[in-house]
Amino acid sequence: MIHSGPDAINLRGNHMISKVAVIGSGTMGSGIAAQLANAGIEVLLLDIKASGVHANAIAERAVERLRKSNPPLIVHRDVLENIAAGNIEDDLPAIADCDWIVEAIVERLELKKELYHDIDKYRKRGAIVSSNTSTIPMSLLVEGMPADFRNHFAITHFFNPVRYMRLLELVQGDETAEQVMDLLRRFNDEKMGKGIVDCRDTPGFLANRVGVFALQVGIDEAIRCGLGVEDADALMGRPMGIPKTGVFGLYDLIGLDLMVDVVKSLKSILPEGDAFHRVSEPNSLINRLIEEGYTGLKGRGGFYRTRDGQREAVDLSTGEWCATRGTAPALAEAGEENGVNVLIDGDTPQHRFCRRVLARVLAYAAGLLPEVADNPAPVDDAMKLGYNWIHGPFELIDAIGTSGFISMLDEEGIPRPTYLTEADGLTCYRVEQNRLETRHVDGHYRPLTRAPGIIRFNEARCTLQALSENQSASLFRLENDIGVVEFHTKANALDEGCMEIVADAAARAGRELRGIVVHNDGPHFSAGVNLNRFREMIERSDWDGIDDFLKDFQHSVRALKYCPVPVVAAPSGLTIGGGYEVTAHCDVLVAHTNIVLGLVECMVGVIPGGGGVKDTLHRWHQILDDWEHAAHRTFMNIGCGKTGTSPQQAAELAYFRLALDRQVMNRDRLLSSACEVIDELSESYMPPTPPVFHWCGATPFNEMRRHLEKNHDAGQLMAHDVTVGTELAHIVTGGETEARDGVSEDELYAAERQSFVTLARTDATRARIVHMLDRGGPLRN
Ligand code: NAI
Repeated sequence: MIHSGPDAINLRGNHMISKVAVIGSGTMGSGIAAQLANAGIEVLLLDIKASGVHANAIAERAVERLRKSNPPLIVHRDVLENIAAGNIEDDLPAIADCDWIVEAIVERLELKKELYHDIDKYRKRGAIVSSNTSTIPMSLLVEGMPADFRNHFAITHFFNPVRYMRLLELVQGDETAEQVMDLLRRFNDEKMGKGIVDCRDTPGFLANRVGVFALQVGIDEAIRCGLGVEDADALMGRPMGIPKTGVFGLYDLIGLDLMVDVVKSLKSILPEGDAFHRVSEPNSLINRLIEEGYTGLKGRGGFYRTRDGQREAVDLSTGEWCATRGTAPALAEAGEENGVNVLIDGDTPQHRFCRRVLARVLAYAAGLLPEVADNPAPVDDAMKLGYNWIHGPFELIDAIGTSGFISMLDEEGIPRPTYLTEADGLTCYRVEQNRLETRHVDGHYRPLTRAPGIIRFNEARCTLQALSENQSASLFRLENDIGVVEFHTKANALDEGCMEIVADAAARAGRELRGIVVHNDGPHFSAGVNLNRFREMIERSDWDGIDDFLKDFQHSVRALKYCPVPVVAAPSGLTIGGGYEVTAHCDVLVAHTNIVLGLVECMVGVIPGGGGVKDTLHRWHQILDDWEHAAHRTFMNIGCGKTGTSPQQAAELAYFRLALDRQVMNRDRLLSSACEVIDELSESYMPPTPPVFHWCGATPFNEMRRHLEKNHDAGQLMAHDVTVGTELAHIVTGGETEARDGVSEDELYAAERQSFVTLARTDATRARIVHMLDRGGPLRN
């Protein structure tokens, strides 16, 4: 093979990607096009020519599907204007002005190759071509293509759904030029928001190789250990740091039929002797389910189904349907609470299941070194970014302990992978001189390096000393004297501990810290205050306790807002309720593009009590310059529990300020972007002046009440919605009184607390909170 050096490539000044052609508008092609459009890139989306008058019908239908997608694959309907739909027969010449051509057509080599010849006729010199193939080796894809094409060709393997799955596996061919790889890496990191994992051209690359094996082992061991579907999912889910869909739930989500195809195609490309072959045989139960239409969530159900409101799961030994319990076994709860080691220490079928699953899956991953990579980080990254695992396989091995893990393999009769046996009990990762290092296959530890600006806080935090810390949150100081407040409760639910750290950060501002960032890299920044705290206080009728809790929350966020240094919130994922209220008190919001922002407290029968109503009212007044309209918009935003699922959508609700706040495509760049904003603000920073409000009084208050009653009469609102809405109307208008100028921020905070406590004392609010906590969904009452 000729390996082209840098001189052999001519990107012809093509150091930027500003227009992209995506060919194939199915699941992946349309998803890639949507994410490009989200990034503001012009896209030409082509599919085969439809018969009849509407030649572009296939690609056009794909665009329509994007418009209606849920969860939304686009950040705003307007971005669809960035996509032009066409067909390959009439429009292929139009790829001539594209900088990158992404092929995402069906997984058939001969069709892909035929298309590459056509692409090569029209692509401009320097244009990059890539394939989204999951299984076809690079060498076959480019066989017989001209050298220049091979120099510009790579595999870009995205994950579905493209907007939400962070992983991009990037494969360089023997002849792909470095500049091509650099450009793809940079563009897909910064513009597409992807976590790039460089992969070798090995079958299934990294994530699917381990991920699909893990699923198959989960099914195999559940049957072998005699576990039910529900218990297996509960154990091989959160307790192992795997999303709660577990194994069978994920099969249902992906589709049983699709999974059968995936397993078949991986089986066809993996070498003989690969452990995958032991779990890839067709499963008669799965085949029967598919035949009966149980193809997963898109069908009548899969391993789970719902009949007459009752959730049922299939019995793996008899094939009968049985009602699910809806509760996790005690071992799963213990595992979630105390970590993976409790799962393997015991001799029940549940322990055996966990031990065997972990032993087989982690040994498989470790056994892939050095074939797929020369250190653990790419494999761990792939699983975390592509399968949403909280911990990668090697991180799990470290959590168990290498020696303990090897003994476990011996007990289970699983061969020891060389990477582990040669290590003599050494960890896969270590922190040395404040640097995180990974142990390479040659036995040496080397620092884990990331592209400049990429900071995953869970990696950074283990190299930092906390300035203060409790069970719920920590305050760290970065080298540049910027403080980072990190929440780390279960699901990042906010409690007194979180507020203590927020207040502490504010107290250190100016003395030890020259800026503060509120950030964490959990899946969700925070879905609000810990409802269990309110439930406990409501059950004890501790109304003063609730008022004190809210006072404490308000004091902490207020201190943050008026502290003498710039404060930036850098959230991603759910940032709602109290989580949003914390960010609303920061100078600038640096938000990930997939953020969900909003105030949803009314759903559980209360109103935002941490300054959320006050702040929304202030923001609407700044936009509309009219207190009555501002009150009305605030009432509607919060009363309906509206959320924005992107910064653009949140801007329509005033929760994101387009002129002031920033959005970042790659969540791993949130912290560095937030630090940049602090540097910008630092030059002439002055804390904000407290706003002064105006209450418009009885007229708008009564209008709002009439609105609530009308909607109640029409059956759209429940009785308690009217009660909650009335309290909200009271805070934003001042209630049934004369209009009043000069209302202070503190009066608004106090009004929020008063309404909150009033609502907390009602049976209906208590019922809503209990329902949400016990059933996981809102109660309409
Ligand atoms: P799909 O079946 O949803 O879409 C394929 C599209 O390609 C269809 O719209 C079809 O009309 C079009 N097409 C077929 N031949 C064509 C041609 N010659 N020219 C233009 N368009 C043509 O397939 P999907 O799932 O989007 O997969 C596409 C590629 O992405 C495959 O290589 C697959 O292996 C890979 N992939 C799929 C993933 C998934 O989760 N579905 C994940 C990662 C990669």
